[in-house]
Amino acid sequence: MTEPTRNQEAENRPSALKGTYCLVTGATSGIGKEIARGLVTAGAHLLFVCRDRTRGEATLAELNRCSRDPFVRMVVADLSSLLEVRRAAEEIHRHLPRLDVLVNNAGTHDLRPAVSADGFDRMIATNHLGPFLLTNLLTDLLELGAPSRIVMVASEAHRSVVHIDPRTFADPGSYGPVGSLSVYARSKLLNVLVTQEIARRWTTRGITANAFCPGLVSTGLTRNIPMGSTLFSLAERSPLVRNAREGAEQALCLAGDPRFTGRSGGFYSTTPGAVLLPPSIHRFRPGLQRAVWERSEELVALP
Ligand SMILES: NC(=O)c1ccc[n+]([C@@H]2O[C@H](COP(=O)([O-])OP(=O)(O)OC[C@H]3O[C@@H](n4cnc5c(N)ncnc54)[C@H](OP(=O)(O)O)[C@@H]3O)[C@@H](O)[C@H]2O)c1
Repeated sequence: MTEPTRNQEAENRPSALKGTYCLVTGATSGIGKEIARGLVTAGAHLLFVCRDRTRGEATLAELNRCSRDPFVRMVVADLSSLLEVRRAAEEIHRHLPRLDVLVNNAGTHDLRPAVSADGFDRMIATNHLGPFLLTNLLTDLLELGAPSRIVMVASEAHRSVVHIDPRTFADPGSYGPVGSLSVYARSKLLNVLVTQEIARRWTTRGITANAFCPGLVSTGLTRNIPMGSTLFSLAERSPLVRNAREGAEQALCLAGDPRFTGRSGGFYSTTPGAVLLPPSIHRFRPGLQRAVWERSEELVALP
């Protein structure tokens, strides 16, 4: 099957997404905000999860201006806290009759280690455990929306992970800015492994999942890196770095393009030349995917 082009994506998007119920995490900035904007513009009913009420309200006002008849709701939750994720899932059930598209986009790159409210490495909690629990708590809504789609915003960084231990991947550790890169990469590998496990477990329930890398995108993700934002906004003028709207394109395609109907477990990279890179040594290890899933269930206390 040939991959849809950007123009075809834009043509397909409005009709496919109109009237669907979509959820995006981390819509207050960067790629998530552009995904949210694209969905609302295409006529989708949108609920977004954000951790800061003030930023959320500003985003809500912005998104309400994108459509003539908008349905935009927000739920406030810090995804690094399992308690907050559980509360958010309950609130989401009160807002939505079903879920057609779930975009797990929220993510962070902490340069220094921090411990989450539940005792895990906070970057792993935000990027993997919180989204994992949220996704599991929304399966009933996703089944009501079937055929429904999950889109995971992962990263090419996942390829750099040499070793991952399913027993210890969420343990808090000590690292500096350089070491933080490997923890970030691990969190993104977890996104990819979970995507593949969803493909194995939930396809028969009408739920598909695909992960992608948006490329190198100038966003708030670099805000913690000294001079990061300045360097990225300068680099944005080069072909190497994209703006957030470009970074959102593949997510919108995976969310709405009919050509992805029934496709699951994929990793799509939008980085030029990435197809030439060897796949991660861990990506095609079903035993590892299952072990990560089962350990994640234990850590977030899913039955
Ligand atoms: N930028 C890139 O080059 C790049 C490349 C590959 C993958 N990605 C992935 O793209 C995704 C989006 O990142 P971005 O580049 O758009 O960065 P961003 O501008 O920093 O956006 C991240 C979003 O996640 C939210 N968020 C962070 N921690 C959260 C938490 N604990 N609970 C709830 N929400 C939280 C942020 O909320 P606040 O507004 O409150 O901070 C923000 O809305 C991430 O998963 C990232 O790993 C980015």
